[in-house]
Amino acid sequence: MFDTMTFTKAFGALCGSLLVFLLIGWAGSSLYYIGPGHEEGAQEAYVIDTGEEAASTGEDAAAGPAFEELLASADPAAGEKVFAKCKSCHKVDGTNATGPHLNGVVNRATASVPDFAYSDALKSHSADTWTPDHLNTFLTNPKAFAPGTKMSFAGLPKEQDRANVVAYLATLP
Ligand code: HEC
Repeated sequence: MFDTMTFTKAFGALCGSLLVFLLIGWAGSSLYYIGPGHEEGAQEAYVIDTGEEAASTGEDAAAGPAFEELLASADPAAGEKVFAKCKSCHKVDGTNATGPHLNGVVNRATASVPDFAYSDALKSHSADTWTPDHLNTFLTNPKAFAPGTKMSFAGLPKEQDRANVVAYLATLP
């Protein structure tokens, strides 16, 4: 009673319905895709890691111990090279330029150089301290950390660069 044809039909029907479910699921998820405004749900599905994303989101900064680990093995000499990007605005001889001097900035209170005119954006963080973590977040994307900051610098997209530059800053007296 189960000839090959019956079996083939049954199997075909099964495959057919699986396909329909698959299509419904797929159509459903594209219908209900809520768009980039709703980060949590949308992100996992659509992130394409180009290695540049980190710069604009600053997300990895919040990811926890990773930065501390990088910092533990960071290279201050490499950081000094990264600091070339900061030199046009920051001096490290205790005097201010376009930006405040960065001597002792690691674990210094935020916006605390007395004779520098900070933006309100940075002053609003003045209860904070420049811990390595905060520096990491700030340097990933200064404008995201302090919207309206006077520091017109796009940020350092590479976490390794940030770790190295923070290690370098930590060597400054
Ligand atoms: C185009 C100029 C410019 C460049 C380039 C720049 N900065 Fe700044 N930076 C500023 C200014 C201006 C401020 C003050 C920001 C404010 O008041 O909003 C600042 C503030 C800071 C602060 C906060 C200091 C404090 O006393 O609270 C840190 C830390 C800092 N910069 C680090 C860096 C590092 C590290 C780099 C390089 C990777 C860099 N900056 C590149 C202009 C610059």
